[in-house]
Amino acid sequence: MKGVILAGGLGTRLYPLTHVTNKHLLPVYDKPMIYYPIETLVNAGVTDILIVTSGPHVGHFLGVLKNGKELGVRHLEYAYQEKPDGGIADALSLAEDFADGDSVMVILGDNTTDADLSGNVRDFTEGALIFLKRVPDPQRFGIAVFDKEDMQKVIRIDEKPKEPDGDMAVTGLYMYDKHVFEIIKRIEPSARGELEITDVNNAYIQDGKLGWAELNGFWSDAGTFDSLYVSNSYWAKKKGDVSSE
Ligand code: DAU
Repeated sequence: MKGVILAGGLGTRLYPLTHVTNKHLLPVYDKPMIYYPIETLVNAGVTDILIVTSGPHVGHFLGVLKNGKELGVRHLEYAYQEKPDGGIADALSLAEDFADGDSVMVILGDNTTDADLSGNVRDFTEGALIFLKRVPDPQRFGIAVFDKEDMQKVIRIDEKPKEPDGDMAVTGLYMYDKHVFEIIKRIEPSARGELEITDVNNAYIQDGKLGWAELNGFWSDAGTFDSLYVSNSYWAKKKGDVSSE
């Protein structure tokens, strides 16, 4: 399995911070944000990693990450998304050659978690696997809607619903088989002009190939000032707890 971290977009919700650098290089406690998804992949045994990025600060990644060896990455590649807000699925489409027929574990570059995904990586065979987490603010996320007769079965995902049909958010961690790239070619841009990862996941549901697991552990995105603050506070406390043991 190969790893893909999506770190494009302009991070406009974090202006003026993202005038300084790319959102994914901003600090989350004692490390640049992108270290966290890299460490999640490496800890899960995925050490062949592509970072997709865009925007005015792309050069900063090389200076920070170099070839990734210091973080345990065996092979690090970069790809450039020409339309910085083309959408998450547009960014993922750039990983097709890198994946080269293999499955991919995809993490959004502003998501941090301390969940251990090594078992999921080991057991993954085909289709797609999404990771869900109960949230207090479901309007902010993709939300999994379950079959009323079979509460284990996800029947669709609603992207940022105004009136959510549940509170299980689709986190920004996904596993896909090689068919994901054909699916991305089939989907159309949404009303906001983006190729949506939610449409990709809904296509897997239509094909009966989407599985899900609850994400065990802390998880947050960091694309707004509030969520960036939540992430910083969690990791500062966790690090403090460990160093005071
Ligand atoms: O964090 C989980 C949520 O992420 C999911 O619940 C939603 O279903 C999913 O659409 C996404 O929502 P956001 O609105 O939080 O996505 P955002 O536009 O902030 O993009 C998240 C990351 O994806 C961003 O840090 C970098 C990457 N990205 C995004 C876009 C739009 C790209 O690489 N390229 C892009 O064009």
